[in-house]
Amino acid sequence: MKFEIKVEKVKESRISQFDPKNIGFGKIFTDHMFVADYKNGEWTDLRIIPYGPFSLSPATSSIHYGQAIFEGMKAFASVENNIDITLFRPSENAKRLNRSAVRMAMPEIPEELFLQSLDSLLKLDRAWVPRTEGGALYIRPYMFATDDFIGVKPSENYRFAIFCCPVGPYYNKALRVKVEEDFSRAAPGGVGFTKCAGNYGAALYPTALAQKEGYDQILWTDPIEHKFVEETGTTNFFAVFENEIVTPSLTQSLLAGITRDSVISGLQHLGYTVTERPLSVQELIDRKSEIKELFITGTAATLVNLDGFGFRGTYHGIFEESKTQASKTVKQFLDDLKVCRISDPFKWVEIL
Ligand SMILES: Cc1ncc(COP(=O)(O)O)c(C=O)c1O
Repeated sequence: MKFEIKVEKVKESRISQFDPKNIGFGKIFTDHMFVADYKNGEWTDLRIIPYGPFSLSPATSSIHYGQAIFEGMKAFASVENNIDITLFRPSENAKRLNRSAVRMAMPEIPEELFLQSLDSLLKLDRAWVPRTEGGALYIRPYMFATDDFIGVKPSENYRFAIFCCPVGPYYNKALRVKVEEDFSRAAPGGVGFTKCAGNYGAALYPTALAQKEGYDQILWTDPIEHKFVEETGTTNFFAVFENEIVTPSLTQSLLAGITRDSVISGLQHLGYTVTERPLSVQELIDRKSEIKELFITGTAATLVNLDGFGFRGTYHGIFEESKTQASKTVKQFLDDLKVCRISDPFKWVEIL
């Protein structure tokens, strides 16, 4: 291990207060968190401490000027050996955090530091990884600017932290999405491909309007013509036609999901044809009778079917349980990989 991480353990674990049968999402936090501070051009004071609040100056620059980025990943309990904990493609999260950091004029985190801090934190809080089917430990690495200064410029100081929460399924039904034509999530040349906090803040108002109309989520379209489907609020999008599976190609305005990439490779491994290309709303409508299923993918959501999509006041229902074979097969494949139930042809799974 290359980096020295100081560890201050909790005096008493809170795990007995945690009911694994009633987990929910994002409300319970494990005993410890990892924290590091960026000062004078280097990451210093690497520490694992009891989970708890930070004390911040009212002038903390990230609160005013938005230098705040994050990642989302999961740890699983391996079924092979109840003691093993697995991580799924953690280096991809480290790389994406650094792509976000560069675009937001923030310092990168050495990938080894990212991985070592994860490893140390998870080894300490491993008892919190749910053993329940569909349960996982959600991991939130994030970085924010900490200069105590008013003025628009890149901060000189930053904090990188990781905390974890045991989670159950994020969605438990097929979702209704609204094709969004008025608002844009991201702009060409903007920050849509990053996980910067502002992308999510900007999506809240349009999403709330769609929810008032009875939708669960927005299906964002391209910001120039609003013709091409991009992604939903926190997931990528797939359309399964009779002879091909299509997912929108990556652009600067949508997030390169790690689940998206794993689903593409997984489907291809299982013998399906997957095409990454622009996919218009009109094509979805014109070829509606050929669509077997629509589904969305993300770390938190995993793979979830869409019930259908609303477009200009018309609802296009798609979901038929009997036609959801592609998403079910690839979801099972990835779920099995993550808990070492099957051998891993991609070397994606890291065992701690
Ligand atoms: C906007 C957006 N799109 C897609 C995804 C899916 O990405 P991943 O599969 O890496 O979780 C996420 C989640 O991080 C997201 O926030």
